[in-house]
Amino acid sequence: MCGIIGYIGNRRATPLLMQGLRRLEYRGYDSAGIAVLDGNSLFCERTAGRIDALKEKIGERRPEGTVGIAHTRWATHGIVSEHNAHPHRACNDSLVIVHNGIIENYRELRAELQATHTFTSDTDSEVLAHLIESCHQGNLRHSVACALSKVRGTYGLVVMHADNPDLLVCARMGSPLVIGMGEHEYFVASDATPLLPYTKDVTYLDDGEIAELRRDGVRIYDLREKTVHKDIQRIEWNDEQAQKQGYDHFMLKEIFEQPVVFRDAVRGRKIPEDGTAYLGGLNMTESQMRNVSRVVFVACGTAYHAGMIGKYVFERLAHIPCEVEVASEFRYRDCVLDDRTLVFAISQSGETADTLAAVREARRKGAIVRGIVNVVGSTIARETDGGTYIHAGPELAVASTKAFTNMVAVILLYALQFGRLKHVSLADGQQFLQAHFEIPSKMEQILNMNDEIAAVARRYARYRDFLFLGRGINYPVALEGSLKLKEISYIHSEAYPAGEMKHGVNALLGPDFPVLAIMTKNQLYEKMRSNIEEVRARGSKVILIATEGDTDARQLGDDVLTVPSTIEALEPLLNTIPLQLFAYHAATMLDRDVDRPRNLAKSVTVE
Ligand code: M6R
Repeated sequence: MCGIIGYIGNRRATPLLMQGLRRLEYRGYDSAGIAVLDGNSLFCERTAGRIDALKEKIGERRPEGTVGIAHTRWATHGIVSEHNAHPHRACNDSLVIVHNGIIENYRELRAELQATHTFTSDTDSEVLAHLIESCHQGNLRHSVACALSKVRGTYGLVVMHADNPDLLVCARMGSPLVIGMGEHEYFVASDATPLLPYTKDVTYLDDGEIAELRRDGVRIYDLREKTVHKDIQRIEWNDEQAQKQGYDHFMLKEIFEQPVVFRDAVRGRKIPEDGTAYLGGLNMTESQMRNVSRVVFVACGTAYHAGMIGKYVFERLAHIPCEVEVASEFRYRDCVLDDRTLVFAISQSGETADTLAAVREARRKGAIVRGIVNVVGSTIARETDGGTYIHAGPELAVASTKAFTNMVAVILLYALQFGRLKHVSLADGQQFLQAHFEIPSKMEQILNMNDEIAAVARRYARYRDFLFLGRGINYPVALEGSLKLKEISYIHSEAYPAGEMKHGVNALLGPDFPVLAIMTKNQLYEKMRSNIEEVRARGSKVILIATEGDTDARQLGDDVLTVPSTIEALEPLLNTIPLQLFAYHAATMLDRDVDRPRNLAKSVTVE
């Protein structure tokens, strides 16, 4: 969603902000803009479209100023156009704002202000600029606090005023803002990615906080304007990790990173001699763990698919009843929770608005709430009472890949940890860990098939529809493969549990409707095989993901992609990879913007 970067220091702000915008591109955007204070004169430029278009518009006009703000917009209210792009100015042209979030009562506020203020955009955000202007009596922080007291909704907000060239004021409610601490220079951004070249010391604003950034320091206040003292945290990621490192796309790089980041996710968390795992961040004693009567995973998109896999393994290993909920449904449902329910919120970004709202709802109802999160210091990580970082490193492609496998890796270890307290024997636990240990080299084996998978994907990329089939633990894998394909190639695709085909979906089958099916050797192999026979009989082309050495698969599939065998619970860690590569190559064949697919944002921070 929208990306914000602000700077105050001694460097020229324009190039720094432009580079910051490029590093925020991965969040998804449709327009961009920048404002820089040059002395007391305000330079502001905006455009619909890409950052290159903004650069072209700025041309040779390079303001010298060392304080500024910039923004990538992902349209919610108002079409994609220059006049709706941020920064938004108030009437007197001295005050500018950038905003991420949604102002829910903007219509009422706009109606009130319209008598005295001239609006130039259709956005909800512009109302903030006029509201702050109408409150302004000299002290910018007071003006922002006064304006925000009238606002309902969410905001990550940065404000700059030509009368205060040594000051940026930021505020947060619902939309993330991180402040970067340098030497006599300070940064504010929607996430840490644009800060990586300059500083690793950051502090995260919490909801209801307002910050003043000056060259000599940062002061943070609550909405009642009382000073708040915050810890400085160190970002673990480095700038190199946030680069493409020779790959054509972030997505391909991130797919190929999976063996390495998988090791990072599980390092120090396995106890082979006891056939178990230990995820200390769970913050629960063994007797509290034994007392858990139900597990609920809440998440969105790809993270939801990881949760579905969690349901299979938790019920199988830990014998604990388990549910998976799409966070946007969970938050509005009267979900029955109690203090024996363990809720896991799964999120790569740790900022997804619906998942965060689900966390808050679950805590309100007294459940035990833990996070399975990638971004360290993110809001979900801070608002849960423990949990586990998945250590996937920066994931910058909109399509989630390595975060998915690392979520699954961690969930599997949780299932083992709970399982060993109940039903799983030492021998079974050790066998599980041995299979887990072999996963990275097996992932590498699949990645070595990249060219073969690319050739198959290219042959099928011109079909308009696709069906993904799986059963059991591979049904969520089919859903994930289908999501990857549709989100980056724009090919329509669906995913079904193969046993459900007869109940309607068979009607779609035929020569124009290829089927990609996961038919690895597990307890449902024979069932899956019969389902594929039925698909073939109806004329659809079949691509199979099959276990190495399965000669029967060769007769059944028009194309067969093989994966090494592993125990059933771990199959998703391997079977997902050919599907990720299939989607990637189909999308590049169709010349799609793989890392930044249309209409999508990396981190969905509004409802
Ligand atoms: O940051 P999160 O894991 O909470 O994001 C959840 C979804 O928005 C995300 O997985 C989305 O579905 C991806 N684009 C899928 O590739």
